[in-house]
Amino acid sequence: MSTTLKGDSSGSASFRTLWDHSNLYILVDVQDAKADVNDRVDIFVDLNNGKTTSYEADDRHVIIKRSGKAEGTEQRSYHVRETKAGYQVELFIPWGGIQAGSGYEVGLDIRVTDGGASGTEPHHPLYWNDRTQSQEQDTSKYGVIQLAPMPKSAQAVQGIVHIDGKKDALWNKAVPFEVKRLNQSEGAEAVARAMWSGEYLYLLIDVTDPNIITDRINPWDQDSVEIFLDENHQRTPYFQYDDAQFRISADNVATFAGSASPGRLVSAVKKTNKGYLVEARIKLHSLTPKAGNVLGLDLQINDNQGGGKQNVAKWNDTTNESWRNTSQYGILTFVGKERYPSGT
Ligand code: BGC
Ligand code: CA
Repeated sequence: MSTTLKGDSSGSASFRTLWDHSNLYILVDVQDAKADVNDRVDIFVDLNNGKTTSYEADDRHVIIKRSGKAEGTEQRSYHVRETKAGYQVELFIPWGGIQAGSGYEVGLDIRVTDGGASGTEPHHPLYWNDRTQSQEQDTSKYGVIQLAPMPKSAQAVQGIVHIDGKKDALWNKAVPFEVKRLNQSEGAEAVARAMWSGEYLYLLIDVTDPNIITDRINPWDQDSVEIFLDENHQRTPYFQYDDAQFRISADNVATFAGSASPGRLVSAVKKTNKGYLVEARIKLHSLTPKAGNVLGLDLQINDNQGGGKQNVAKWNDTTNESWRNTSQYGILTFVGKERYPSGT
């Protein structure tokens, strides 16, 4: 997820973090058209989230200048590059002796200084959390990040299929991915495949659901699949203009929310021996993908089991918030033709 910094400076900045068992990775993206020798990013990390009012051994302050000079970090652990609208700073910080794992919390603050603004005007850096700007001495006002497991990922292969609810042979080129029940021992599940061509995303969702019920009032209480898209992949805790929810019932009745609309969807559903097969083509609306691009995707299978019993299967997001929060979606990568594995 991309987080925006605050402050009344002319430019703007945001950051993203990733982790593995060796390092914490930070990418800061600064929008500042005019390069100045004093443009810089300050990164403050409280590795044990001790929130102490003075620095301890685990606390780090790294200064990286837009010119590429750094203080407080090893030579090879950072990289600066100019972008169209400004510059990006990328660095990693080793965990040292800390056993980082999912759920672990780290104190973090980031400050971005526009060198061009510091002469005549008062100094107004952008910052994430500590508005008193005492990050150099005090870690107690840093923000906190929590390490989360890496989302699942799947690939969309390049190709065009006919939307008729029959599985074209071309679908066998797409690697299947499973949409599983959360905690329940019974209920519908599905196997999905993805394909793309131009501005279209194709999905084939093979649902196992022996008892099909579609006569409820709420569309999500009917046997149905839901497709969630976060085209700009900002993983926001709310829906943005690019985020969409498409729901297709086992009777091929579609419902839409967010940026989803009937004009963007062509779908077909066929009953199978074990349930139903959904084939859909969705027109992407804020992304014309190229090989290597990604978007946020999730799939949800709604299963009405009769007798008031309702189950849900999901691909990555284990919450029931996918319809208004894109932060837990899985990741779909658009793969080019040249990258088909040989022999398939
Ligand atoms: C959820 C429902 C929610 C609906 C809104 C579904 O994905 O499961 O709880 O009310 O979306 O459209
Ligand atoms: Ca989005």
